[in-house]
Amino acid sequence: MNMAQRKKIALVGAGNIGGELAALAARQELGDIWLFDIPDKVGVAQGKALDLEQNGAVLGYDAKIRGTSNWDDLAGADVVIVTAGVPRKPGMSRDDLLSVNLKIIRSVAESLRTRCPDAFVIVVSNPLDAMVYAMKEGTGFPAERVVGMAGILDAARLQMFLAEAAGVAVKDVRAMVLGGHGDTMVPVPSYCTINGIPVRQLIAADKIAAIIERTRNGGAEVVKLMGTSAYYAPASSAIQMARAFLHDEKRLVPCAAFLRGEYGYKDLYIGVPAILGGAGVEKVVEIALEDEEKRMLDNSAKAVRELIEASKRL
Ligand code: APR
Repeated sequence: MNMAQRKKIALVGAGNIGGELAALAARQELGDIWLFDIPDKVGVAQGKALDLEQNGAVLGYDAKIRGTSNWDDLAGADVVIVTAGVPRKPGMSRDDLLSVNLKIIRSVAESLRTRCPDAFVIVVSNPLDAMVYAMKEGTGFPAERVVGMAGILDAARLQMFLAEAAGVAVKDVRAMVLGGHGDTMVPVPSYCTINGIPVRQLIAADKIAAIIERTRNGGAEVVKLMGTSAYYAPASSAIQMARAFLHDEKRLVPCAAFLRGEYGYKDLYIGVPAILGGAGVEKVVEIALEDEEKRMLDNSAKAVRELIEASKRL
């Protein structure tokens, strides 16, 4: 790999998700990696970076990995993945994190604005839809280059539960989850298939209903078990989006994209199917929804809008 051609990946937040993001990006040789955290945590960022660069000697990957608390080190990044903020504790909803994480995201956006003007920015911090909206506002970057990670993760949870119920390999299950990344998320059974076969032909309706409910609480289930939020599947999901951009893959995945009238919503970030490629969010894909699904999506859009309005007052 030629140094001059290497991509630069900036990870803002070197906590649980940040560390796993760095591990995955290094293994996939997506580029050189900067792990950023606040000055109090710079040792953690630097320690993880060193450990991971040494891991390359064992696993045979080639990536320069550095930890920093200096924003200037992120200058010119091709991709920025933002996990800065606080995760949930048991009993908390994602919305409970709004005021704390909003402050953090606004300051991160301000720091990225001048240093990474061409970056594709993937937001992971919660409450996701409001945070990604704040990131777009704060950076002023075009909406195509500011996106939120939630749908791939929520769909992954749904896929795992469906695979278990049907007794099939998880890789044969495809699922779609739309809407906000919270209690109002909209798992869409009419678009869930097992190698092309609609799940409704293979799994009983009452079982699917229970699985949908478990998916909605999928994040909380993990938080309750380990006292903090999940990080393996969230990191893999964000890396899949980063890779789609860096390799111009044209992946069609659910993610929080900025809407300009699609699905009847304007000036809103919410989970929808979108095509991710070298230009960022290249297209928001509009799909037909059953009446009940559209009603649930409207309800979710309303909840996200309320959160965005609440953040404007903070
Ligand atoms: N700039 C950079 N990093 C920051 C800032 C900031 N202004 N403020 C906090 N951080 C760092 C913390 O120091 C911490 O190291 O963000 C990191 C977050 O890491 P964890 O606490 O381990 O949280 P994690 O599990 O990685 O989740 C991060 O993603 O899924 C969401 O709900 C989750 O909002 C949470 C975020």
